[in-house]
Amino acid sequence: MHFCTKALHVKNIDTHKAMRFPIYQNSAFEASNSKELEEFFKGKKDGHVYSRSSNPTVSAYESAVTQISKAHGAIAFSSGMAAIANLFFSLLKARDNFIASKHLFGNTISLFDTLFKDLEVEVRYVDSIDEVASKIDAKTRFFFCETISNPQLSVIDFKALKKILKGYKIPFIADTTMTPWNIFDAKENGIDIEVLSATKWLSGGGQVLGGMVLDYGSYDWKNAFNLAPFYEKYNQNALLFKLRKETFRNLGACLTPQSAYLLNLGLETLDLRVKYSCENAYKLSKSLEKRGLKVRYPFLDSFKYSSLAKKSFEYGGALVCIEFEDKKRAYEFMDRLKIFKRGTNILDNKSLAIAPYHTIYAEFSSSQKELWEIKEGLVRLSVGLEAYEDLEADILEAL
Ligand SMILES: Cc1ncc(COP(=O)(O)O)c(C=O)c1O
Repeated sequence: MHFCTKALHVKNIDTHKAMRFPIYQNSAFEASNSKELEEFFKGKKDGHVYSRSSNPTVSAYESAVTQISKAHGAIAFSSGMAAIANLFFSLLKARDNFIASKHLFGNTISLFDTLFKDLEVEVRYVDSIDEVASKIDAKTRFFFCETISNPQLSVIDFKALKKILKGYKIPFIADTTMTPWNIFDAKENGIDIEVLSATKWLSGGGQVLGGMVLDYGSYDWKNAFNLAPFYEKYNQNALLFKLRKETFRNLGACLTPQSAYLLNLGLETLDLRVKYSCENAYKLSKSLEKRGLKVRYPFLDSFKYSSLAKKSFEYGGALVCIEFEDKKRAYEFMDRLKIFKRGTNILDNKSLAIAPYHTIYAEFSSSQKELWEIKEGLVRLSVGLEAYEDLEADILEAL
């Protein structure tokens, strides 16, 4: 089955066969007797006990994601940042380290450079995959990058990196927010664990916050020192169980049933929305480049990552970046836009514009921003579902 068909016809697990799994709006669930309640707690029997640990609507959404991706299992969270934090807290202990691409979403860097630093977790940033091997030691727990980085739009050679990581038995984690399952086969590209912000494309247009962790079942958890007690009990489900039974439950970043319902609806139209906005973004990037603007887009031949992007993804994503000479010019442009809204989200149904240097990365120093290639005049456009002609006209008018 094609992705769009699969997404519309996930297994119906509602008792009443409602076409869309309903919202189970409540916090606790009743057991038939005391013994059953004990069995739920001891994991001897499956069932919902308390919505901070699991909820039927949230489980239906997790099951839908598992069915339409190639994942072995998936867990939903209250936001993308919650998914990243819970995943990493599950894999790390104090004085561990991990390797990460230096091109990352601002809040992710903020988490690494503040909370993780306080907990004595070291992040070893790299510029290219050639630096990875030399950064690995006995305390290195994983490698992390974004499939298309936000906002630089950089891409790495996933398969080449996988070969290196495999040699050291290090898991490969990627933030795939920019590249959902219909345009990127994470498993085929060697990614062991996927983490993403469901707030973006999955939510069906910026309606709710959400996050996901997907385990593809490809990493042998026997090699993960920190998961040893869970590996003994749950084998290849070690990460999913550690997340569910420990980190997730204890930190409490659960997805609400209403959000799960909307995310489930979002999955039904994901394929159409993703491909439509990617096509809009591609056309826009070509048109702007033709007019002599400095444009970044993963599928533009002039862009330094285009061959890697075309090798890995079916579409180039929906972010287009324009580099203006300075802040003044960037702001003049943004303030003249009528259809593109000035706002901080991405991959919404509506097209959005922001200058990341002065907003998302405002708390960082100018030398850090220079290192991460985030310039003062950079405008990030998130291209939505409007008619292409209207978007192009809006931009040209603003220019
Ligand atoms: C690549 C990426 N990862 C993670 C996040 C965090 O997601 P959320 O806002 O759902 O916490 C974002 C948010 O913009 C993002 O762009």
